[in-house]
Amino acid sequence: MILIIDFGSQTCHLIGRRIREMGVAMQIVLPKRAVSKIKECKPNGIILSGGPSSVYGKNALLPDPKIFQAKIPVLGICYGLQIMGQQLKGKVMPGKKKEYGPTSFTLTKNNSLFAGWEKKKKNFTVWMSHFDQVLKPPEGAFITGSTPSVEVAAFADEKRKFYGIQFHPEVHHTEYGPDILENFVIRICKENPSGDKSTLTGLRPEEKKLQKFIGEKITELKKQIGNNKVVCALSGGIDSSVAAYLTYQAIGKNLTCFYVDTGLMRFGETEEIKNTFKYKLKLPVKVINAEGDFLKRLRGVVDPEQKRKVIGETFIRVFERESKKSGAKILVQGTIYPDVIESKGTKHAQKIKTHHNVGGIPAKHGFRIVEPLRTLYKDEVRDIAKTLRFPKEMISRHVFPGPGLGVRVIGEVTKEKLEILRKADKIVVEEIKKAGLYEDIWMSFAILTGVKSTGVAGDERKYGETIAIRAIESKDTMTADWVRLPYEVLARISERIVTEVFEVVRVVYDITTKPPATMEWE
Ligand code: XMP
Repeated sequence: MILIIDFGSQTCHLIGRRIREMGVAMQIVLPKRAVSKIKECKPNGIILSGGPSSVYGKNALLPDPKIFQAKIPVLGICYGLQIMGQQLKGKVMPGKKKEYGPTSFTLTKNNSLFAGWEKKKKNFTVWMSHFDQVLKPPEGAFITGSTPSVEVAAFADEKRKFYGIQFHPEVHHTEYGPDILENFVIRICKENPSGDKSTLTGLRPEEKKLQKFIGEKITELKKQIGNNKVVCALSGGIDSSVAAYLTYQAIGKNLTCFYVDTGLMRFGETEEIKNTFKYKLKLPVKVINAEGDFLKRLRGVVDPEQKRKVIGETFIRVFERESKKSGAKILVQGTIYPDVIESKGTKHAQKIKTHHNVGGIPAKHGFRIVEPLRTLYKDEVRDIAKTLRFPKEMISRHVFPGPGLGVRVIGEVTKEKLEILRKADKIVVEEIKKAGLYEDIWMSFAILTGVKSTGVAGDERKYGETIAIRAIESKDTMTADWVRLPYEVLARISERIVTEVFEVVRVVYDITTKPPATMEWE
């Protein structure tokens, strides 16, 4: 078993996932429980996760140094590496340059963590997210890799089996990430990968096991819900649809599904969703038109977090109103793991933004919440949907956030602004589909930036809106890169937006990775 100590990293759960994918057991613990957990579980290896603190800050989150005396191999990732630098007599300082997103890493000295590198590149792309840096490796360790701005980007103490890396091997954008983790877990910690594969993760291609997972979930839902009445909020996205479908299999008619038309939906979306549920999934759905409620409550709201809370709360109020009619006390939601973690779902993680189906729920509401997909990632939910034979267009449909276009209209949300955005967004999606790129992209959409600028149309001055386009690729939501869309596609999108959407005079393309940006602008 591998023990992961969670210092509040956004991607700690992802480290766990990678280890489970190898068929090796793991547990995630908080720093204060680390020593007792080591005694109790006798892990073969310890991983120190990243985290938002600074090791020399006033509120530094540090483990009991006894963890380094247990004669167990240790791998420190990002903040974990800095902890090792601090507690094992190295030196940590604020970096001169921040490193967020892709960086070029050079392996400067062979060591067990990078075993089998003979045929691999010594210079490869890794993803970083840090400010502090180790200036001197721990006593007994030597530097094994550097980046252009960080000399000690990796170190190794082969005798004590202590390793540190400044980058994140767990995120899918880091080249050779799985090889590095496998070297630690299998080669250095001598884990036997024939272990427990009873969780969903790690079983991706095997439909039989997905079927088993589905069966178990349905049984669990039956137990959790009993004979109670349940409501489920459908957004049309894959998460809530899978959650509803599984619940329907479990309890049948005791489930009432609502689809709330918030007025924050994309062009033609409500009609499309209604038809898919009715004719393809054969899941009874009640459509509630609540545009008026949402726009009224959003009046004057500018702050993004406030907006998310208002939208989350309005959802709940609408459900409460509607569910009174069916007497339901339970609400099923399609929350997935990244929603939980990005809304400060673990003790030491920082809040990035309030995802409406997690943190946005007001403390006082009348429901017991059931979230059957809470531990899963999007690609896993898609695999389940495939196994359930969901229509293809539903599986490949781009992710759409719960708060909808509300977080893509920057500043106050109004009906007029939503209309402009809807028209521009439709063009973006149409052109990307026409170019045959839609299915290879995680998300593509338009943002109404709120920036006005000067244009010239028909020899007249025109002071109008700026639309931003964002197209990104991601696998696990935690990191993302912008898509290198062909210039011709960008040109067509831009031409069409400025000619077909009267209010817009300027179109720009967002070329930021996550981190440091997030996918949605708000
Ligand atoms: P960010 O902007 O946090 O987005 O990088 C990561 C992914 O999550 C989606 N997203 C949401 N999904 N409720 C959701 O169900 C939300 O409140 C929410 N906010 C962002 C976003 O579209 C992206 O795919």
